[in-house]
Order: sequence, then C-alpha cells, then structure tokens
Amino acid sequence: MNNSPIGVYDSGLGGLSVWRELRLRLPRESLIYLGDGKNCPYGGRSREEITRFADAAVERLVAAGAKMVVVGCNTATTAAIDYLRAKWSDMPIVGLEPAVKPACLNTTTGRIAVLATAHSLRSEMFLRTATRYAEGVEVLKVVGEEFVEIVEAGEEHTPRAQMAVRRVIEPLLDKGIDHIVLGCTHYPFLRSEIERVIGDREIKVIDSGEAVARRVEWLLERYDIAAAGDHTPTYDYMTYADDAYLAHLRHRAEQIIGK
Ligand code: DGL
Repeated sequence: MNNSPIGVYDSGLGGLSVWRELRLRLPRESLIYLGDGKNCPYGGRSREEITRFADAAVERLVAAGAKMVVVGCNTATTAAIDYLRAKWSDMPIVGLEPAVKPACLNTTTGRIAVLATAHSLRSEMFLRTATRYAEGVEVLKVVGEEFVEIVEAGEEHTPRAQMAVRRVIEPLLDKGIDHIVLGCTHYPFLRSEIERVIGDREIKVIDSGEAVARRVEWLLERYDIAAAGDHTPTYDYMTYADDAYLAHLRHRAEQIIGK
C-alpha cells in the first residue's frame, strides 16, 4: 500500500490524454502531472536533448514524491526510456508506444497508418516495434504536422485545426488503410477532427491511453504500491514554463475530466 502520487510527464499538454485514462481507471491514485511546456515541441529535437529534458523531469517528479512515473509522451519514450529505467531501476517507469500491435493484428486490408512526431518515427524503438508486429502489413508513417502546436495553443476546434488535419489525413484516405494509430499523446485531442475527415469510411482511429492505464494498474499490484481503498486522491500540476501555462494546464485537465 502506498498513497504517494503517480508522476505523469509530457513535453506539454499531450500527456493529459494519458492522465485522463489513469484518472478514470485508478480513481484512488493521486496524480502529479509535469508538462514541460518550455521546450515543447520535442518532435524535431535530438535524442540527447530530449533525454536531458526527460532526466530532469523524472528527477523533479521523484523529488515531489512520485512512486512511479508514466512518460506520457511517445517522443520522450523513444528517446529516453532505456536511460530512465537504468537510472531509476527500483521504480517502475512506464513508457508510451504507438498501438501498432493491435492495428496489425486487426487489419484486414493489410495496410495501416501511424501518425507520430518525426523523432518517434525515425527512432530505433519504432523500427523494432514495426518489425516485430508488422510482418506482412504495410505501415505508412506520417508526421502530424502542426498538430502539437495546435493542441498546445488550445486551438483544436478552429479552422486552423481543420485545415491541418485535412492536410494530413486526406492523402491517406485512398491508400487502402483501415487503421490510423495515434502515436503521439497530443493527437487524441484532435480525434474528433480526424474522424470528421474520415467520415463513414471503414477506418478505425486508435491510441494507447487505455492500454497504458491497464499496464499501470498491473504494475501497482505487482510492486504492491497501489493507494489504499479509502485514500482521497490529489491532483497536482507542474511545468517549466510560466504561471500562465500552469493555469492553462490545470484548466485543460479540469475540462477533460468535466467531459
Ligand atoms: N506528446 C508527445 C508525444 O507523444 C510529443 C509532442 C512533441 O513535443 O513534439 O510524442
């Protein structure tokens, strides 16, 4: 039994899509969310740089009492997860990987698309996952250009978002894909726009949020660190950006949970 918080980290607001699943699945767990905000987006940065940010972020979450850390960012996972796990070998650290496996298992057309940041798509980790599960399946790799910036600006339901989503999704529609995997935690915030462009075509949009929450639940049991059944959870927020960003982050989190 352990009532300390679970730390959740992302380059910005995207990890809130994972935070939401954790909050829904594990209502007794306290959560402490660190949205970098200052160095976002990570997608075009080098592995070394992202590892440095992730290292500092996990240090900070541990200093704040986190019993476990969820790297709610595909990009930081591909860059730094091995480093983080080696450094904090006593603490469970959960990373985010695009849901390539379920898409490959369920495709009937033999073709899927994975949307992620440029860094994630060219990473070794992505290559490994794609090779492991995608035998006989064609995987189209697509960067969600501008998606992260739009979500950070809170502009998901604006003409700017509609245009950016159309630009990325429309060229995929006649490629014979039947799954679009959202391989960046910012992208689920654009899901309704993406689904609007897909219309009534047989293309399923999937992300990893729920699977990660199940994995966290399993690890809490395994390490015997789940919160007590009568624990009243707390929700805290941290950032490397300014107070306005922190207020924005808190507001988004409350909005998400209000829905
Ligand atoms: N949310 C992040 C991800 O899952 C990264 C976005 C970015 O900072 O470029 O990949």
